[in-house]
Amino acid sequence: MVRHPRVDAIADEARAAIGRATSSTQLEELRVRYLGRQGTLTMLLRSLGSLPAAERPRVGAAANEVKRELEALLELRLGETREAERRLERARQRIDLTLPGRRPLPGGVHPLTRVQDEIVSIFVGLGFSVAEGPEIEDDYHNFEALNIPRDHPARDMQDTFYLSEDTLLRTQTSPVQIRTMQAQRPPVRIIVPGRVYRRDADITHSPMFHQVEGLAVDRSISMGDLKGTLELFAREMFGGRAKIRFRPSFFPFTEPSAEVDVLCFLCGGGGCRVCKQSGWLEILGSGMVHPQVLRNVGYDPEEVTGWAFGMGVERVAMLKYGIDDIRLFFENDLRFLRQFV
Ligand code: FA5
Ligand code: MG
Repeated sequence: MVRHPRVDAIADEARAAIGRATSSTQLEELRVRYLGRQGTLTMLLRSLGSLPAAERPRVGAAANEVKRELEALLELRLGETREAERRLERARQRIDLTLPGRRPLPGGVHPLTRVQDEIVSIFVGLGFSVAEGPEIEDDYHNFEALNIPRDHPARDMQDTFYLSEDTLLRTQTSPVQIRTMQAQRPPVRIIVPGRVYRRDADITHSPMFHQVEGLAVDRSISMGDLKGTLELFAREMFGGRAKIRFRPSFFPFTEPSAEVDVLCFLCGGGGCRVCKQSGWLEILGSGMVHPQVLRNVGYDPEEVTGWAFGMGVERVAMLKYGIDDIRLFFENDLRFLRQFV
């Protein structure tokens, strides 16, 4: 074997570097560094001409020998590292067929939507049609037209979120009564589901909740029709054994007015925290449409009469499913929601 100190120095350095390399990328870099077009060894071979004539053959022979050696060494190490890298990649991608699959969570209808749809469909079955209105309302439709003037104490019954002097988040679905009657002549039979807002929060009150408004206006509509309709509704919704009661009440836009309570599901009427010890849970307000409201929309109270109600969807859902805290509907806890899928 022909040897030369300059060639030996390059060879020692290259062997050591190849020995230390741990990846095919590093080995490729070393190939370039020593054997590439600008590589150390290549440059040495190219510069043979500038050496003294006596030295040229020895250096040339030694360099060519080292070049072959390094090529072989790189080839060998590359083979090894590539194989190791492939094994690693295969292990990384291996699929464990014994693992249980990930089941996609099936979506479900929210219990409030479910109950709201059920309420609406009971009334659609009785010949009512669905109407809707804006959640951002003006003072006129939410209050004035419903016979609740500014500074009237009845405004305190519904603590309001105002957006400006004249606009607010509707506190009830009743403004849709006004919008509908302004837009069409009697007879009217509508059912109006929607969100409403009040500054109100405890286990039976939520600042955002849902109401379903009902309105029937025609010739000779009576309080008896209202009572019969709501009794039928209660039977459909809660079953034949449900107990409801009509309780005299007050709303500026109905006269006479009544609220409807359902026997408390939690205590069976004995009194508890849900019914505030009364044994009953209020689900709706109702009454005969006030003659002034009819006049406000251009109807003649001598010609037509009507009744209306506004029902709390959360309350109906609490009674139907035995839920003792209204906040559960809005916490989006899957353990709660899954029970209704
Ligand atoms: C009204 O909102 C009247 N607009 C109802 C009405 C319509 C009367 C048509 C006459 C004619 P009230 O404020 O009582 O009335 O609310 C009606 C129902 O909504 C209540 O019976 C209750 O079930 C529900 N409710 C009221 N406030 C809340 C609240 N903060 N959270 C959840 N439900 C509520
Ligand atoms: Mg009330």
